[in-house]
Amino acid sequence: IPVSTFDLVLFGATGDLARRKVLPSLFHRFQVGQFSEESRIIGASRSDMSKQAFRSFVAKCLEEFSDTASADESCVKRFLNLIDYVQIDASTETGWDVLSSKMRPQIISVFYLSVAPGLFGTIASRLRASGCSNRESRIVVEKPFGHDLPSAQALNKELLNSFEEDQIYRIDHYLGKETVQNLMALRFANSLFEPLWSAAHIDHVQITVAEDMGIAGRGEYYDQSGAMRDMVQNHLMQLLCLIAMEPPSKFSATAVRNEKVKVIQALEPVSNANIARGQYVSSMPGEDYLDHAGNPHSQTESFVAMKVQVANWRWAGTPFYLRTGKCLRERVSEIVVQFRDPPHMIFDGTEGHKGNTLVIRLQPDEGITLHTTIKDPGPGGMRLADASLDMSFADTRVPTERSQDAYERLIMDVVRGDQTLFMRGDEVVAAWEWTDPTIEAWQEKRFAPSTYDVGGSGPEDSLLLIHRDGRRWRPIGR
Ligand code: BG6
Repeated sequence: IPVSTFDLVLFGATGDLARRKVLPSLFHRFQVGQFSEESRIIGASRSDMSKQAFRSFVAKCLEEFSDTASADESCVKRFLNLIDYVQIDASTETGWDVLSSKMRPQIISVFYLSVAPGLFGTIASRLRASGCSNRESRIVVEKPFGHDLPSAQALNKELLNSFEEDQIYRIDHYLGKETVQNLMALRFANSLFEPLWSAAHIDHVQITVAEDMGIAGRGEYYDQSGAMRDMVQNHLMQLLCLIAMEPPSKFSATAVRNEKVKVIQALEPVSNANIARGQYVSSMPGEDYLDHAGNPHSQTESFVAMKVQVANWRWAGTPFYLRTGKCLRERVSEIVVQFRDPPHMIFDGTEGHKGNTLVIRLQPDEGITLHTTIKDPGPGGMRLADASLDMSFADTRVPTERSQDAYERLIMDVVRGDQTLFMRGDEVVAAWEWTDPTIEAWQEKRFAPSTYDVGGSGPEDSLLLIHRDGRRWRPIGR
């Protein structure tokens, strides 16, 4: 769908996120004709750079991180023509008047803050004071959105001093992933699943976000954060919300976010007995978590698994097992919905019976699989076997169409003014309210993480966490 013309100002324009994600995503949307050539992308950073030098910088990131090979040269050229640059030091007065003179008040303006959260408040207030922003402007901020409840509340307050909540777009890129949106279509555009979507029919849910990469290169940030803050408080929480929420009355920002926040508020506190934490260790020297973190005494977790309870009528009695970690066997993100067994089994041989499982794969190979039980085909009597109804999204796509990166969708939603896939201030606050006591408890008790091998499935205690309930994790990787 074509969107209107806009001015997008990218703060932190020479940073990693801008290079890898924001600029290539804008290019890809331009390539498919989603925005007009009257739009402008204005890079802003402290570097002293000419417009031409910034255009060459953008051209290089496109070569490195986007599909310029399939684009015709003129398309790249036309995209580079939209690019402008201003040198701005967020902490001083320098550059704001120049930026202000470039803004076109009659056109939608988007301010993308790809900078450290410590600068959010300052940039927001300078945008307002210099007249760069107006009531129609949108401001986009990236995680980490706070380090704990007080810092998140402070960030909200700083942004709200200069912008209204309906202008603030807090990105959680998991919400831009194709399968995550498909999860909502699956639940709310089919009549098949919703009647079964409760503790009466679902035994448990597993949410796994496993990564094969470690934290080398970003140890300093990560060690202050850990898996709980880096992944659970935001990405896994969002997935949990979409699985557990009540059907919203419509697919609108207010209705969807109202339902999500209710799920977070219904989460029971998690005791340490229901948590497993780990740090990876490697057989290769210098490749342990502690080496990558640059902190030999670190007690920060690179893996966390937990058993979570959503305390409401729909979910009482159905645990949600969450796990995420670095340096695991494979990069796999998936949600597993395990349905209860039939109340009475009429067949004798039940070895082939695994029950109904719905697997929602976020990455790789995005898709949905429903495991069912059938009769093992052929002679041999009534033997049961597992058969899967499999849908890979790659098969449903037009062959020439490339899959969209999460950022492409989200940036265009900002331009459209659609906040459905962004976190509202109260959601972030509720998520920290739930996360903080858990982290505080293990810090107080100096609850040290156990170790797990690089390339494995996480620490032993994460297996115990689920085995003691008579359940098993779905294996990471096949
Ligand atoms: C980021 C985390 O938010 O998400 C990273 O800070 C993590 O630690 C990344 O690697 C995972 O995102 P994706 O899209 O690769 O699963």
